[in-house]
Amino acid sequence: MPAPMIETRGVTKCFKGKRALTDIDLSIGQGRVLALLGPNGAGKTTLVKVLTTLLRPDEGSATVAGCDVATEAVRLRSHIGLAGQYAAVDELLTGRENLELVGLLYHLGRAERRRRAQEVLERFALTDAADHQVRTYSGGMRRRLDVGACLVARPPVLFLDEPTTGLDPRTRNHLWQFVRDLVAEGTTVLLTTQHMEEAEALAHHIAVLNEGRVIAQGTADELKSQVGGDVLEARVVDRGDLERARAILDEVGAGPAQVAAEERRVSVPTGGGTKALIAAGQHLSQGRIDLQDLGLRRPSLDDVFLTFTGGAPDEPPDAAPSSDGETPGPDRPPSGGPGGPGGRGPGGPGAGNPGPGGPGAEGGS
Ligand SMILES: Nc1ncnc2c1ncn2[C@@H]1O[C@H](COP(=O)(O)OP(=O)(O)OP(=O)(O)O)[C@@H](O)[C@H]1O
Ligand SMILES: [Mg+2]
Repeated sequence: MPAPMIETRGVTKCFKGKRALTDIDLSIGQGRVLALLGPNGAGKTTLVKVLTTLLRPDEGSATVAGCDVATEAVRLRSHIGLAGQYAAVDELLTGRENLELVGLLYHLGRAERRRRAQEVLERFALTDAADHQVRTYSGGMRRRLDVGACLVARPPVLFLDEPTTGLDPRTRNHLWQFVRDLVAEGTTVLLTTQHMEEAEALAHHIAVLNEGRVIAQGTADELKSQVGGDVLEARVVDRGDLERARAILDEVGAGPAQVAAEERRVSVPTGGGTKALIAAGQHLSQGRIDLQDLGLRRPSLDDVFLTFTGGAPDEPPDAAPSSDGETPGPDRPPSGGPGGPGGRGPGGPGAGNPGPGGPGAEGGS
């Protein structure tokens, strides 16, 4: 079996005594996509930072493209591209200039960097705005440029931290297709997402993170079969019927039915597909329960969480990390100077790459 392109063993990371990651074991091979799926504060960005050498793990080890994150950080950075959670493009440059700058930082020839910048602009539907300053771009346009910037250099391993947050559905689909094309050419991708749908659309392997731990992992199908395949959902007309509807779906489904009273909705996991749907319809109708809606849907992140944690994902009141214990990352660009690990390229802003040659990561506990 070929060596994994990304591998972590027992990675643990604390911030001021609080654990952000506990004992993370993951592995993904070349030309594959690993999705880290989890709610706010689960530890997704922290793991991305460990793997891109922006943070040093307290315990455990990790390699990317065969390079150890702790001892071979400089070499590792030459193999990766990173689109951080927050856009890190230069406001005063145009979109095209940002992209060509990345090519320059990667020592691409003039014709080649023009060609690749143009390709990214076309691919991300930015040609009309290509020669406008980025400060005039919408949030979604910045996001597209930011993700595009880390593709100019065609690194063999790509880290995309919530790449489609804030994108409209059409642009999101374009980005998905771009990722698929890169993967077909052999690029290895680790992406983070809060959406089961995105993980399912792109990933060969999904790791569900909650409170810094991997609580489940496998293919989308494997995870969903543990959730019960599909979710059967009924919305009743009269709130007074909720309890009876719950009892009926409890019988038909593969697990306990859940009631969302506000929405007059009852849902239950099922492996029975349309047969279960028809049976539910018959029983509800025999019980003279008026329905506004009845259907089967794919499990959502909430369903996965309900199954694996017994509760919905928590929303911490303030998911924004403090500045303690980390080097300036792409989330917060370095205040100046080329080559910082948060810089975009091998020597400054723009590349979507922590940049070989930047200073090593700092311990953060
Ligand atoms: N530099 C830091 N200092 C202190 N705590 C931090 C720091 N960075 C992250 N944390 C904490 O570590 C935990 C994991 O944060 P992380 O940013 O990795 O979550 P996430 O899964 O990326 O969340 P989101 O979906 O909101 O981006 C959170 O409790 C967060 O507050
Ligand atoms: Mg994050």
